[in-house]
Amino acid sequence: MKPILFSFSEDQLLAQNLAHQASLDFGNMNVRHFPDLETYLQILNSVKDREVYLLCSLFHPNEKLMPLLLFADAAKELGAASVNLIAPYLAYMRQDKRFQEGEAISSATFAKTISSFFDAIYTVDPHLHRRNSLSEIYTISNKVLHAAPLLAQWIDRFLKDPLLIGPDEESKQWVSEVAALAQAPYVILEKKRLGDREVEISIPQLEKYQNFIPVLVDDIISTGKTMLQTLRHLQKLQLPPAICVGVHAVFSENAYEELLKGGAAKVVTCNTIFHLSNEIEIVHLLAKEIFGV
Ligand code: R5P
Repeated sequence: MKPILFSFSEDQLLAQNLAHQASLDFGNMNVRHFPDLETYLQILNSVKDREVYLLCSLFHPNEKLMPLLLFADAAKELGAASVNLIAPYLAYMRQDKRFQEGEAISSATFAKTISSFFDAIYTVDPHLHRRNSLSEIYTISNKVLHAAPLLAQWIDRFLKDPLLIGPDEESKQWVSEVAALAQAPYVILEKKRLGDREVEISIPQLEKYQNFIPVLVDDIISTGKTMLQTLRHLQKLQLPPAICVGVHAVFSENAYEELLKGGAAKVVTCNTIFHLSNEIEIVHLLAKEIFGV
């Protein structure tokens, strides 16, 4: 029997594409709220003895968590052979340590919860900072997929003489990989986070790159402040207008519009989170790395 893939409505486009690419059955469910806002969920296909996959990008995770857990628990009780989560964007990865006394380490709590309901998790470039692998917090089978080759292909196809710029030391891991694949030079800046919406980025030294197109590359664009600060520095250096490339289009509040107003020539993301900046398609990556097709 073919595996069966489900999704909630926000991820339906990507999920249907994936089902098509990987020849999976596509399942339906009925999800709604009771008048008191508790969640009602009904799986509309038989899942008995089947490998069940749920594609759910964990953007705005709090509101998705309960439906996610209800789905996984119901699918298991209804006899699924396995229940697997495909979370192209994995939330709750940034609070990975107790910075101040009494803080919850939410990445560990979230991982514990998901691990007790699902059999496996697949995700794209999770924000691994102080952790080396997902296995440090997820106790289930897990696989990390990398968007670097897709970013490199986009850069190679659309930009002439790009100069890749990573905002901080931790971005070096993927910026250097994208640069190598796109055969482009890169520089890494230094970032100091001063608060949720405030960062300080070092001034790039780019004298020898006057004719290059600056391409800011990051895994997550959330408030956009990291990229905005960098854009401000670049404007003073009189380089061509910069392109912002992010894997995950989190865009809190009006971050996307602010980046465009702040001088970005273009803002491009992967469709790990549905957004109008999505230009880099991940469906083939998911199909190949999860289903081998
Ligand atoms: C964190 O270190 C990440 O790699 C990103 O740099 C960060 O999440 C971007 O956040 P924001 O867009 O809010 O500056």
